[in-house]
Amino acid sequence: MRVPTCIPVIPKNAKKYVNAAIDKNWISSLCLDEQVNFIEKLEKGMARYVGVRYGVSTTSGSTALDLALATLGIKPDDEVIIPSFTMIATAHAVIHNGGIPVFVDADEETWCMDTSLIEQTITGRTKAIIPVHIYGHPEDMDKINAIAEKHNLDVIEDAAEAIGTQYKGEMAGSLGNIACFSFYANKIITSGEGGILVTDNENFAKRAHMLKDQAFGVPRFIHEDIGFNFRMNNLTAAYAFASFEEVEDAVEKRRGNAKLYSDGLSDIEGITLPPEKDYAKSSFWMYGILIDEAVFGFSKTKVKDILKQKYTIDTRDFFYPMHRQPSLIKRDYVRDDISMPISEKLWNCGLYLPSSTNLKEAEINYVVEAIRNIKASSLNCQTKAK
Ligand SMILES: Cc1ncc(COP(=O)(O)O)c(C=O)c1O
Repeated sequence: MRVPTCIPVIPKNAKKYVNAAIDKNWISSLCLDEQVNFIEKLEKGMARYVGVRYGVSTTSGSTALDLALATLGIKPDDEVIIPSFTMIATAHAVIHNGGIPVFVDADEETWCMDTSLIEQTITGRTKAIIPVHIYGHPEDMDKINAIAEKHNLDVIEDAAEAIGTQYKGEMAGSLGNIACFSFYANKIITSGEGGILVTDNENFAKRAHMLKDQAFGVPRFIHEDIGFNFRMNNLTAAYAFASFEEVEDAVEKRRGNAKLYSDGLSDIEGITLPPEKDYAKSSFWMYGILIDEAVFGFSKTKVKDILKQKYTIDTRDFFYPMHRQPSLIKRDYVRDDISMPISEKLWNCGLYLPSSTNLKEAEINYVVEAIRNIKASSLNCQTKAK
């Protein structure tokens, strides 16, 4: 049985909505027909779902982050605190705006940024913090917001992986000044590519709408600001809206899959299951595990290889920490001798298992059995070696 890491669900209404946009010939980011204005439906629907007033669709989660920082007015040499353990788009957004990303190690329990290490990185130039809800587990937002308030910093949630995630009963995306989601193909809502910025702040929403559209002003072609073309087109929005209509079911399915995995793997020594703190409802966007080589018997790389070669099961490595990225070291964003032990451990030990929304129970059982067999063979190897 071949089990891929993640395949997107094709939404029930995808063709109907995309065809409706085509039939009415509204295919760009401009749509003057309310009935087929999927950009507006998506923006309003997402904002309502998250619990804020405004949504600003974009071409990706990455461009939503770029736009969020521009909206907040991050300028050259402003410092922005981000986790080292994240996907590189978080760092790129800071750099694209001329800012300096300042990295913080991960928390061993949640895999999100360690909030106890943030304050020591704050300087007179710090302007914002970007917590990342890693693999769908929420950052401890009360702590982040308390630090932000104390030091007068903005908070941008990188909620790319966290559609449907909750923190103390509140939706991820409603917990900072601005939040960004991704609609990439492996995300819980998807249009292949795409993203959205959401906010409860009217001024931020207006500014984000203006900046994403080349900062067009009135009269048109007179520009007061430097903008971008981050406009989502109506065909993409039609697909994304069809996917959005299925969000609740998709989140519950990913959570159900996570429970099946955890039930199957919990008694295997040497495996750490993904976190879900008391305050959290994780979307379990990806089901990640850590493999402790000394206890499990094989390294995560070996386990990945066996899963692939012997069982045709695809997995993915965890993120390579930002403070170790050659691109960032080369440009002096970080020194090459910095150590962040938890982020490094997550990279060394972490992999995620197949996590498609529509994974079948038989597929999950197959993956669990494969891991059990690998563990048993590692025990055999150890016995023979003695
Ligand atoms: C934490 C995080 N931020 C940002 C992004 C960027 O989103 P996109 O791929 O839609 O540009 C991703 C993508 O997976 C992500 O995981």
